[in-house]
Amino acid sequence: MVAVKLWSGRVGGELAPEVWDFLRADDQALLPYDKAATLLHAQRLHAAGILDEAELAEVTEKLAAIEEIDESDEDVHSSIERQLGDVGRKIHAGRSRNDQVAAAFRLYVGDACAEADAALTQFARTVLARAEEEANTAMPGYTHLQRAQPVTLGHHLLAWVEMLERDRARFAFAAAQAEPSPLGAAALAGSTLPIPPPPNQMRNSIDAVADRDFALDYLYATAVLFTHLSRIGEELVLWTTTEFGFARLPEEAATGSSIMPQKLNPDVAELARGKAGTAIGRLTGLLATVKSLALAYDRDLQEDKPPVFAARRDVAGALGALAVLVAGLEFDRERLAAASADPLLRATDAAEALVGEGAPFRDAHEQIAGQVRAGTFEAPPAGNRLGDVTHAVAAAKERWT
Ligand code: ARG
Repeated sequence: MVAVKLWSGRVGGELAPEVWDFLRADDQALLPYDKAATLLHAQRLHAAGILDEAELAEVTEKLAAIEEIDESDEDVHSSIERQLGDVGRKIHAGRSRNDQVAAAFRLYVGDACAEADAALTQFARTVLARAEEEANTAMPGYTHLQRAQPVTLGHHLLAWVEMLERDRARFAFAAAQAEPSPLGAAALAGSTLPIPPPPNQMRNSIDAVADRDFALDYLYATAVLFTHLSRIGEELVLWTTTEFGFARLPEEAATGSSIMPQKLNPDVAELARGKAGTAIGRLTGLLATVKSLALAYDRDLQEDKPPVFAARRDVAGALGALAVLVAGLEFDRERLAAASADPLLRATDAAEALVGEGAPFRDAHEQIAGQVRAGTFEAPPAGNRLGDVTHAVAAAKERWT
């Protein structure tokens, strides 16, 4: 494959194939965003009189027709310039791949955040629909994975939604961080050409090409999201065991065993749980790449994209599959009710009743604990310690429109 190099004027000879293969970027996913960033740059070149009307029209038209990059290209930027043909020889005035890649990657991350928001919304609304149905379904709440106090399944599911709501804010933050434009920074020091700055231009040209905080923020948002999905996944795995028996998996989201004919496995929940490790690894990996890097641009930064591309696929994939699973879960209300009917779950209520009668809490606690040890404890009538779940679901639905 003949190499197409943007820098062949300086380095004339052919690169060794091993070197070429090593340097090439796996950045095809950036193509639509690099086309968009190139169009913005072309419009600025036109405003500066560097591209005439016809040339801008040609760039616009040719950009729209570019669909892929090939193996002769060092990266997506070289590919676009090559595919623009003769007018492509003018396009790189006043820019460098350093501001170009940052501009395209910021657009990519902005889109990935919007996609995460849509997938979160769909999943949260699915959970909310189930919470509404199960607003009055009794279940035991747990601490230390030991039965603790009675709650409702609706209340528990709303706890999941709270986590998702904070995830949503983290993706919105990452999107805002990706918003400013590095265009005009060129390699690191701007350009002598009279090109108008883009709206929202970053203040400092060195920071503009060196900064990858927006990618770290995105990976952080995905790492925390997957940490949440791992907790939700773990609960789904537990609830659908024979031992708990709180829910049955829907067939469209369960797998069988290749050897044991009776098995129905929660692979979706497990894989969502497992991907948390990978998501955390992507964040720590990029942190380590950026750490100690001298400003402004270094080729190390090419390593920023694969983890973000992969994280985007996992976010959409996991939330989509979990939404199907949760929508189809069959809760066993009788079994949940039986588990929460254990009188010992009301021991705290009994102690609080004594406090209501004037006892210091520690005395009340000791008195009830003594009854539990002696086997004489009797549960007081059920009181309502939780808020109105139906109302909380309705309020959450308003926020997840
Ligand atoms: N493929 C490169 C990257 O992803 C593009 C920027 C290359 N810049 C350079 N000065 N070699 O970072």
